[in-house]
Amino acid sequence: MRHLSVPSAQTQHWLDLCRTQKWSSNEAGVTRLDNGRNAIPINDSAPGEEDEVWCNNPHIEIEVQQKGPTHWLDHIDEELAETYREDWPHSYEIQGDILIVKIEETVWIYGEMIADAMLTQLPNIRLVCADLGVKGEFRVRELHPLASRDGTLETRTRIRENGYLLWVDPTAVYFSSRLSNERVETLATAKQLRNQLKRPLVVCDPYAGVGPSLGALLSEPDLVSGYYVGDLNPDATELLALNIEYLDSRRKNAQGGQVAPLYPAELHCRDALEWAKDSGNHNQIDLLLVNLPHQSISHIEALLPLLKRNQTSVLRGWAIIERLESDENEEAIRCAISSANGNLEKFTFKEVKGFSTTKSFMCFEAWLNLSV
Ligand SMILES: C[S@@+](CC[C@H](N)C(=O)[O-])C[C@H]1O[C@@H](n2cnc3c(N)ncnc32)[C@H](O)[C@@H]1O
Repeated sequence: MRHLSVPSAQTQHWLDLCRTQKWSSNEAGVTRLDNGRNAIPINDSAPGEEDEVWCNNPHIEIEVQQKGPTHWLDHIDEELAETYREDWPHSYEIQGDILIVKIEETVWIYGEMIADAMLTQLPNIRLVCADLGVKGEFRVRELHPLASRDGTLETRTRIRENGYLLWVDPTAVYFSSRLSNERVETLATAKQLRNQLKRPLVVCDPYAGVGPSLGALLSEPDLVSGYYVGDLNPDATELLALNIEYLDSRRKNAQGGQVAPLYPAELHCRDALEWAKDSGNHNQIDLLLVNLPHQSISHIEALLPLLKRNQTSVLRGWAIIERLESDENEEAIRCAISSANGNLEKFTFKEVKGFSTTKSFMCFEAWLNLSV
């Protein structure tokens, strides 16, 4: 492609001129030459080298590496892409090698074509599925397979998050990568509590899903001594067991050496409200996670007996609430804690950004001391 060679100090001046005259080409960028000059790509409408406008700056030919398509829409017929410009999916979610995308009714008939374009653009994707919304007791997503790179429709896949791997299955178990920052915060809280108690923690995640919080906690050396985890969904519990086995197998102490086995190591497919019905589980836990956002607050009271007494322990959870009912919800959490003879040392109740605009997705964290 034809380029105008200019002294580097004058590049901006010549770029401006070429742009205003519509002589620049956007098929390539500016190329730095070895002789203190830059080469600006110009198009066919720019005058020839002999034209006075160039002030004797020479034209040179540089072979340009064509930029490949950068978006899956670049693989769709231009006219069609333009016709449905407003309707094509604007975003998608990736879990491992599966891409999940919501498809508007108006372009549903092009579903397979969209999926093929996505497979062409994204080499690490194996399966593209349409998201038909959440269903059932465990709020898992109904997916419709649109196209598969190798013909397989398996939805169990493995993701990497914050340095650890997790088995997930979007058709069988809830998982959201949007909450990965919350996991980072959970880890920070746990480290703070460990420093305060001066020993590793017993943690409890009774709504663990596939166990992403355990991923963060068990990857940290000398942070966790034991766990009570579970989920009501049998598919979640199966993946949770696989993930904990993997996380446990790579545990090391801070010096990179061997660690003591985790104890307790309780993993059950059970209703979270059942844990405290066994009095043997009372007074065992330092850090309790409550992640059933539509019911977390109402479940707190039944879970508090699990926390250790006469020491600082932490209750950390997530709740979806009406925007205007923040005070009432905060009061309900405080009330559940005081009814259990809990003394609040620290309390935060704050919104996690990036969720629905009509409701608030909140994180609550209570540092408390339950007296006997
Ligand atoms: C919002 S998800 C959170 C999963 C996981 N903690 C995460 O962050 O990905 C809630 C989980 O609670 C499980 N669940 C629903 N009701 C439950 C109950 N009563 N007891 C235990 N688990 C329950 C669901 O199957 C789901 O996996």
